Amino acid sequence: MQKKELIYEGKGKKMFATDDANLLIAEFKDDLTAFDAQKRGNEAGKGALNNKISTQLFHLLKEKGIPTHLVETLSDTEQLVKKCEIIPLEVVVRNIATGSLTKRLAIKEGTVLSFPLVEFYYKNDDLHDPLVNDEHCLIMGLVKSENDLDRLKHMGREINAILFKFFADRNLKLVDFKVEFGVDKDGNILLADEISPDSCRFWDATTNEKLDKDRFRQDLGSVKVAYEEVLKRILSKV
Ligand code: ADP
Ligand code: TMP
Ligand code: ASP
Repeated sequence: MQKKELIYEGKGKKMFATDDANLLIAEFKDDLTAFDAQKRGNEAGKGALNNKISTQLFHLLKEKGIPTHLVETLSDTEQLVKKCEIIPLEVVVRNIATGSLTKRLAIKEGTVLSFPLVEFYYKNDDLHDPLVNDEHCLIMGLVKSENDLDRLKHMGREINAILFKFFADRNLKLVDFKVEFGVDKDGNILLADEISPDSCRFWDATTNEKLDKDRFRQDLGSVKVAYEEVLKRILSKV
């Protein structure tokens, strides 16, 4: 597989074309950003950790029947993925209230939600990724049909059910997470992008210690140590 030109550089990854028009190489960066990239940092080795963590979780989800874009790992920081047309929605699933949910609705931090909450945010940096409802998605043409919205919600809940149990078995609470979906050349909706401590919140189930990007957002220190701990628990046999 030949790595060709850089087609996009985002906050956490670079995307490269390959000699196959249907495949891309995703290269995970050590950069960390928060609050619309107003806060910036760098943690040597973070990209490799996220590549490993995301690869493990995508393999698990694939085994459980979730179609994903992942083809194979190429190196410490690179993976080969199916090229998709990304649906411009961040699908967030929440089990415990924290972050923007507590700010927006004054739900007390740490409240266990009575069922997993699925939210859509419009992926648009200029608008700061606003929360949108089903009708916004349809009117703005962010998805093709109500059926696609139902599919995204269903896949979000399925991913949550699989990962929630997987992490509970490893003494971690999956507090919330963000996923992205894309449409491949055959019109299938695939789980795309990544699932890592950059895009999830994990709390130690005994101490509630934060083991994710909130350590960077909130200046808690030991960011890399936390990501290493998440990988260690993912790789541990229960
Ligand atoms: P951001 O764009 O939010 O800064 P990243 O730095 O992670 O995020 O950049 C990766 C970009 O690649 C994202 O915009 C993501 O939507 C996109 N992407 C992820 N997976 C695929 C894929 N399989 N095909 C095409 N684009 C993808
Ligand atoms: P929030 O509470 O800030 O809305 O975040 C919800 C989840 O989404 C949390 O696990 C972090 C993740 N997330 C991203 O992956 N990218 C983002 O740009 C934001 C704002 C949140
Ligand atoms: N990903 C967003 C940023 O880099 C926000 C966040 O994760 O807090 O700005």
